Amino acid sequence: MTVKSDAFVFFGATGDLAYKQIFPALQALIRNERFDLPIIGVARSDWNLERLRDRARSSLREHGGMDDKAARKLCRLLRFVNGDYNDPATFAQLRKALGQAKHPLHYLAIPPSMFETVVKGLDASGCAEGARVVVEKPFGRDLKSARELNRTLHSIFPEDSIFRIDHYLGKEAVQNLLYFRFANSFLEPVWNRTYIHSVQITMAEAFGVQGRGSFYEEVGALRDVVQNHMLQVLVLLAMDAPTGRDGESMRSEKQRLLRAIRPLDPGEVVRGQFTGYRNEQGVARNSKVETFAALKLHIDTWRWAGVPFYIRAGKEMPVTCTEVFVDLKCPPLHVFDKIEPEQSNYFRFRLSPDVVISAGARVKKPGEAMRGENVELVARQQPKRVRLPYARLLGDAVRGDAELFGRDDGIEAAWRIIDPALNDAEPVIRYKPGTWGPSASDKLIASDGGWHDPVVSKTPAK
Ligand code: BG6
Repeated sequence: MTVKSDAFVFFGATGDLAYKQIFPALQALIRNERFDLPIIGVARSDWNLERLRDRARSSLREHGGMDDKAARKLCRLLRFVNGDYNDPATFAQLRKALGQAKHPLHYLAIPPSMFETVVKGLDASGCAEGARVVVEKPFGRDLKSARELNRTLHSIFPEDSIFRIDHYLGKEAVQNLLYFRFANSFLEPVWNRTYIHSVQITMAEAFGVQGRGSFYEEVGALRDVVQNHMLQVLVLLAMDAPTGRDGESMRSEKQRLLRAIRPLDPGEVVRGQFTGYRNEQGVARNSKVETFAALKLHIDTWRWAGVPFYIRAGKEMPVTCTEVFVDLKCPPLHVFDKIEPEQSNYFRFRLSPDVVISAGARVKKPGEAMRGENVELVARQQPKRVRLPYARLLGDAVRGDAELFGRDDGIEAAWRIIDPALNDAEPVIRYKPGTWGPSASDKLIASDGGWHDPVVSKTPAK
């Protein structure tokens, strides 16, 4: 039987991720799932518990709103361990703070360069015994370092106690990709190379690095969102149905798809950097880190041979939106009017800020002529996020349910795809903030009808 964790430890307690995601997720768990474990924040700073509680309260106010009762309980459950991750005394303090807990969960919400130091500290202090570890993305910097990190983790924790988190997998809209595909019979006959012309995924953010310059310098768009969030979305779009209903069958099927994706050809990758990035705090004046990436992927399976999959992700784009556009092939003949634009039969999955599942179709315009227009059949439209992805995932991790977390082989398979494009394999091209990145990105997809730029209404999604 899987045991429930009996303490929740998070490293990086004073950091950005804790502020934007972890405190709101913990409040949601307390409110909706009667979460009542001791919560121990660990960080290297001169803070005390009271200051951390203040930080938690302002995080809740700023990110989703404060529920007085749940927030009070969160502050009551909160403990603080202050110290350097390189100092054994920090882990000795943590061991003490854990008290009687036998199965703590340690969440590493810290920069990837610190993962190894912290897990070794947990091991040496006895804090790793009977514990689970949740590791934030990016998991390593490339295939080699991901393998090393897997080795280090495996020397301390068994694989079923390691939870590699990717918050995209906890998103309701991302879950719905899978559900919509495998709970409808009409989709499967067309979901292949015979009917699908190409697939594109755009993750656009209308803001920059928001004070996270030094973190971003360690990663760049390829490591920050492509190797993980974007590839996971692609996997859910392209994988076959799992043969069992358990989490492991699902993870194995995802792995099979990842292995079929060809490693990137650097000639099919465009890297961009928005003008002004180099002036951000923590960013090198001659930085070559990409804030935009566009790429073309090929999946060597019977289902997908010859269907290009494009990914584009960038900061300082014209809108904030993540959207998938599955372009169906044109009818074989123009029986009536010429169909323009050609991308009129498609499936569109908007993952954020709002949620949409829709199909593009052509219908006749009223009148004598056999002329048509494009319409969208909407299957699902939700103005707001239903559940915080971090609440979903951290709740799963506490219960020991690993289905929505990366497995060692899956993470390595994803790096195998991205590896050839890393380390400045292609020069970085400047682009103006508020544009769709360098024009080379348009050239990359020109022969497949161009990018479908998501249109976001001016009224913010509630
Ligand atoms: C994070 C990245 O993983 O995902 C950020 O580090 C990015 O750079 C964020 O902004 C986007 O997440 P979401 O849920 O807002 O699409």
